[in-house]
Amino acid sequence: MESNLITEIKGAIGIVAINRPSKLNALNKQVIEELSRVISGMQQNPEIRVIILSGSGDKAFVAGADISEFSSFNTTQGAALAAQGQAQLFDLIEQGPTPVIAAVNGYALGGGLELAMACHIRLASDNAKMGLPEVSLGLIPGYGGTQRLPQLIGKGRANELIFTAQMIGAQKALDYGLVNQIVPLKQLMETAEALAQKIALQSPTAITAAIGAVNAGFDSAQNGYKAEIEAFGQCFGTADFTEGTTAFLEKRKAAFKGSH
Ligand code: COA
Repeated sequence: MESNLITEIKGAIGIVAINRPSKLNALNKQVIEELSRVISGMQQNPEIRVIILSGSGDKAFVAGADISEFSSFNTTQGAALAAQGQAQLFDLIEQGPTPVIAAVNGYALGGGLELAMACHIRLASDNAKMGLPEVSLGLIPGYGGTQRLPQLIGKGRANELIFTAQMIGAQKALDYGLVNQIVPLKQLMETAEALAQKIALQSPTAITAAIGAVNAGFDSAQNGYKAEIEAFGQCFGTADFTEGTTAFLEKRKAAFKGSH
């Protein structure tokens, strides 16, 4: 039983809400462990084709890593915190087989924005505020923020946001390409679910292959174009490919049975 999360399965969609509203859903060790366990379980569930991640309440997605938890850490503990969190949760989401949509419903700061950036797609409510304020604490982002923010919005804009510790609103985040869409807060979850439904109709095996190919281009140890060629070829050996092309030729909608 997860004490800091609210989870729900609606058809092919797994919904996870971080539920620590009195601390603006700040990420402590326990929340990270619970998220890791639940998301990994959903990734292994063939019925779940898309995951939506959000924060409970109407104020925060996640206001950052829990500052009270690491305020007395030394250099070794600090490095371990970042290494463990990245592997346990942030990389798990980004490199996992199942697409994850972040429904950013308020503050997404520090580790909260890093969590949203580890997701494959971000939608923001109109009251969302995003930033990486770590330098105001004498830190830098440690859950992948120095890497994923420049990937998403470019190096110059990312440097400015990181160096000034400033928060930006939903409109600027949209202009920067940090989020895909702004939605009134009350419609955020229904919009995320509608997007998830569209994704859930497509081939899950192909989507997993696409996640891997896109990620390969951001991995200096891989050649993205070569990874794409290999994954493209693999698709021809899947039942989803047979179903997708047969359905097209038979002029019917494909019913994909593959899994992530
Ligand atoms: N870690 C631990 N606790 C946090 C937190 C965080 N990252 N963010 C918020 N909280 C806690 C506050 O300490 C407060 O707890 P309390 O009621 O027991 O004192 C509670 O959440 C509510 O926050 P509060 O600051 O009172 O709300 P606010 O509306 O005045 O301000 C923020 C909202 C987001 C601007 C402010 O909470 C903030 O700056 N948080 C830290 C953001 C940050 O630096 N994140 C990066 C961490 S690496």
